[in-house]
Amino acid sequence: MRVLGIETSCDETGVAIYDSDKGLLADALFSQVKMHAEYGGVVPELASRDHVLKLLPLLKQVFQQAGLKPGEVDAVAYTSGPGLIGALMVGASTGRALALAWGVPAIGVHHMEGHLLAPMLEAEPPEFPFVALLVSGGHTQLVKVQGIGAYELLGESLDDAAGEAFDKAAKMLGLGYPGGPAMAAHALKGDRQRFTFPRPMTDRPGMDFSFSGLKTFTLNTANAQRDAEGQIDAQTICDIAAAFEEAVVDTLAIKCKRALQHTGFKRLIIAGGVSANRRLRERLQVMVDKERAQLFYARPEFCTDNGAMIALAGCQRLVAGQRSDLSIQCKPRWPLSSLDSI
Ligand code: KG4
Ligand code: ZN
Repeated sequence: MRVLGIETSCDETGVAIYDSDKGLLADALFSQVKMHAEYGGVVPELASRDHVLKLLPLLKQVFQQAGLKPGEVDAVAYTSGPGLIGALMVGASTGRALALAWGVPAIGVHHMEGHLLAPMLEAEPPEFPFVALLVSGGHTQLVKVQGIGAYELLGESLDDAAGEAFDKAAKMLGLGYPGGPAMAAHALKGDRQRFTFPRPMTDRPGMDFSFSGLKTFTLNTANAQRDAEGQIDAQTICDIAAAFEEAVVDTLAIKCKRALQHTGFKRLIIAGGVSANRRLRERLQVMVDKERAQLFYARPEFCTDNGAMIALAGCQRLVAGQRSDLSIQCKPRWPLSSLDSI
């Protein structure tokens, strides 16, 4: 089955064509990051308007890339939530309308299920069951995964998501938006020993997270280092970024180890924007090796938002016979654990 995937839940317009036999046929993305950077975060109305401008050209591009005529697909999958309502509506209404016009079925996909299945776009896909760490700008969740839609939440952030914490800490250090990649780049040049940040909620049992305290710790550390003019020297910024990254990565690794031990599973997958973080991948690789388990992740461009993960997730459900009706349903909030299993 050949499926067109459309992602417009936040600040990336992603379109892709995935074939259940041949794999990914085409993939195109437009990131709005530069536009939102001026405001220090995503402006929802600007995001929606830009999806309207970019979606049709990207659709033409993927059909051309795949050597197909527009409409030569068996189904359309679009992100129907969670996300920004206006942004979601652009992809959902376009996807639903195209499917109707082409006379093929459509399916609304859960954005986080897309992230969760993204490692399956790679050459050696993980088999079920596995533990999934979902770390994006809006979510930090540990999930016990028995199959598609068979998700049990083991733990989640009680406040800020990991990506959100990276973004906010970066803002405090004057590193701009989005913060994750900038923090990681500065951390590479930093001394990881100079400052020690706390590992929140690791001194008690359980698999929940809390990252808002790290934000305050970053602010206080930064303020204590300011000179008479309020400036922080460049090396100190790198050292703070390194201490912050180390604390987040270490905390995630401790909870992932607990999740593997709790479930007895031997596979860990990481997905979502923060899973592109090199330090996190290195730290988790060491942990899974000790646990005699395996680590799976997608290439960096499929860790952040993209159309390929939506095409793949939609394809799995469509192949199992699932369909969405003709209504255009967008759900800004939509718990992952409420999905049907297939
Ligand atoms: O999954 P995603 O593209 O969008 C959401 O669904 O939220 O994740 C975006 C988040 C942002 O918070 C961004 O700062 C973070 O992922 N991120 C990173 C890295 N690359 C992206 N965080 C840490 N290190 C990175 N290399
Ligand atoms: Zn995402």
